[in-house]
Amino acid sequence: MMTTGQTHLFIPGPTNIPEDVRQAMNVPMQDMRAPDFGELTKPLFAGLKRVFRTETGRVFMYPSSGTGAWEAAITNTLNEGDTVLMSRFGQFSHLWVDLAERMGLDVQAIDCEWGTGVPVERYAAVLEADKTHRIRAVFATQNETATGVGSDIPGVRAALDACGHPALLFVDGVSSIGSVDFRMDQWGVDLAVAGSQKGFMLPAGLSMLGVSQKALEASRSATMRRCYFDFVDMMKVNDDGYFPYTPPTQLFHGLKAALARLEAEGLENVFARHHRLAEGVRRGIWAWGFDLCAKEPKWHSDTVSAIVVPDEIDAREVIRIGYEKYRASFGTGLSKVMGRVFRIGHLGDLNEGTCLTALAIAEMALADAGARIELGSGVAAAQEWYRQVEVAQFAAKAA
Ligand SMILES: Cc1ncc(COP(=O)(O)O)c(C=O)c1O
Repeated sequence: MMTTGQTHLFIPGPTNIPEDVRQAMNVPMQDMRAPDFGELTKPLFAGLKRVFRTETGRVFMYPSSGTGAWEAAITNTLNEGDTVLMSRFGQFSHLWVDLAERMGLDVQAIDCEWGTGVPVERYAAVLEADKTHRIRAVFATQNETATGVGSDIPGVRAALDACGHPALLFVDGVSSIGSVDFRMDQWGVDLAVAGSQKGFMLPAGLSMLGVSQKALEASRSATMRRCYFDFVDMMKVNDDGYFPYTPPTQLFHGLKAALARLEAEGLENVFARHHRLAEGVRRGIWAWGFDLCAKEPKWHSDTVSAIVVPDEIDAREVIRIGYEKYRASFGTGLSKVMGRVFRIGHLGDLNEGTCLTALAIAEMALADAGARIELGSGVAAAQEWYRQVEVAQFAAKAA
């Protein structure tokens, strides 16, 4: 069928790729063993360290989606049978637990209500009670993409420090790093996972893993089997800008352009923009009279909003209508919340117009699906917010 105009992508990853980033990837193939290959790759490691905000750690890049970096983090630093503390409150934190169990870890998983996040106080109590330091690692999902929930990573750090617990801190930052505040060194994060297709505004296929010196030290004695993701193979060649296997050079060119964009805007401004745009979307949702899946303001995510539809509506129908009738993709409800929520991703390359279009199309799809909402109400509420509030108001706070 002949289509006109843009097909809108309002899912929380893969996100929209800015035109200059897309063009930057349109380059001929090149020799990944050429003497000058490091000129392309070495600045990428340095740029990623700035985004992860680590000076003392290092960053690995794997040709994989984010899940690969989850696996890399675990297999390089832990041993089969190690006890680890995790929490589950959405599909991605659930999958992380699943991966850890399949890798042979003894997972102590705290199940929390979906719509809440990392249970910092419960973590503190478990860590405090672990006098023999049996727990080797603590895991925290900074942004649960399935439910639109952000969690308090400095709080987890504080819980570890309060009882002098030496466990490694693993953070899933796949849908947060590069979009919302993240400070690897300051927050004492030992392993930080990110993926190219979210805040980095790239195609899927490149995962990034921030690794602290403490985690590198742990990797020297960790016995879990690993090959493709082994830090040692990477480190042997990374410092000169090379890789132990064929790297995705086009993605590197894209990353170079994406990092240049993030640096030109300034990370504080990137975070402030995400907050301001997200708040407009939230105000739109509330103007419809709907709730977010996130139970309280402290859980609000600045990269994705999961919207609970009225009981009589099936969220899958809203998504189907949005796609088939209005050519816009919204994120579906995953697992437990399937049919109950749909999601608007608001991360990466976007502005007021993007969010207003998402709300406007969502309103039409909701109305078509039988929801009783006033057309334009959400759009108007977001418009009011965007007109009144400048990015600069939040940038100072993020600095
Ligand atoms: C928070 C979070 N963690 C992990 C993943 C898995 O990443 P990937 O699909 O890139 O393997 C995702 C994917 O959406 C995610 O949102």
